[in-house]
Amino acid sequence: MLTPKDLDLEEKMVFLRVDFNVPLDEECKIRDDSRIKAALPTINYLLEQKAKVVVASHLGRPKGEYVPEFSLKPVAERLSELIPQNVILAPDVIGEEVLKLKKELKEDQTLLLENLRFHKGETANDSSFAQLLAQEVNYYVNDAFGASHRSHASVVGIAQYVEKSVAGFLLKKEVDYLSKAVHSPSKPYVAILGGAKVSDKIPVIENLLNKADSILIGGAMAYTFFKAQGYEVGRSLVEEDKIELARLLLERAQKEKVNFYLPSDHLVAAEKDPDTEVKIVDSPPIPSDLMGLDIGPKTVEKYSKIIAKAKTIYWNGPMGVFEIDKFSQGTMKIAEAVASSEALSIVGGGDSVAAVCKAGVSEKISHISTGGGASLEFMANETLPGIEALSEK
Ligand code: 3PG
Repeated sequence: MLTPKDLDLEEKMVFLRVDFNVPLDEECKIRDDSRIKAALPTINYLLEQKAKVVVASHLGRPKGEYVPEFSLKPVAERLSELIPQNVILAPDVIGEEVLKLKKELKEDQTLLLENLRFHKGETANDSSFAQLLAQEVNYYVNDAFGASHRSHASVVGIAQYVEKSVAGFLLKKEVDYLSKAVHSPSKPYVAILGGAKVSDKIPVIENLLNKADSILIGGAMAYTFFKAQGYEVGRSLVEEDKIELARLLLERAQKEKVNFYLPSDHLVAAEKDPDTEVKIVDSPPIPSDLMGLDIGPKTVEKYSKIIAKAKTIYWNGPMGVFEIDKFSQGTMKIAEAVASSEALSIVGGGDSVAAVCKAGVSEKISHISTGGGASLEFMANETLPGIEALSEK
């Protein structure tokens, strides 16, 4: 993978695609700036090498039109606190005014384009839009790991209109870590998969079936698997149209001799409500008037023992309705178990990343991915459209 170190950058204009899709509160204040900080090594390197840097990102899903709440203004403010250069926020992404700003860009300035998704051409990977993005640009640097599973104009299309396109240091770091888990995991390799839907995790489970030694399932997706085994799951969330697929996955796991674990006890309640009464039941079945909202203590103990013996761990997705404290214990305990293990541990996906942060153990995780969907897709397909688009060595 080529990086900015393979480029002669002095006086050259670089289009740097980053993933500054940061969470904002109601007043449009940034709640977590880790994605901005994660791109600093690349930004700073480009600036040190005297490149002219045009930074671009999406924020939210504004669907091809200007939506003030999705302006990158708060991001521009935060970025200007983090780098020595003045950050100029362009009024748009393309057009005369932006072109002028690009041409007049000075050494002590960094140009941040407005939200790429204010234009329909971005998500459509429109070639004329990609060409306009590339105007005046010599090199393309992709440091937006979190968006590299999207075949969008600023991720894929632009690469063919520049002299060279390379990976930023964050993208390279993400790929290096995830590749270890995909191609050469030290054994035992334990994958922990949670979240509400099996459908989000199907390709990654399929790929893990001939790589992982154990797959530990948590979250509501477990109930689709129980249903596939013919058990009653009460009012728990089930993806009815994925039951057959879940059955086939269980069958394949058996054939591949992968230890495929479902929770053995559950924290259940009548409602997904913080004030509701909860109890622990062994399972399955789940009583008809109750729903599973977290894994129970026996499951935590069993999973923790397996995690403790692992040499490689990949975790994506919470073990329960983690947003509500009452249902978050299972996820928090799994976060602690992952942190205490000696394994190479990789955590991806918003909720599992939030869990390791909330548990105060993020320092003990080998790699926290900045991409949820992107890390899952990488684990499933072993590459991403945004990686495929880059120049080869
Ligand atoms: C993310 O937050 O996962 C990335 O920024 C991608 O965003 P998207 O799902 O809106 O494409």
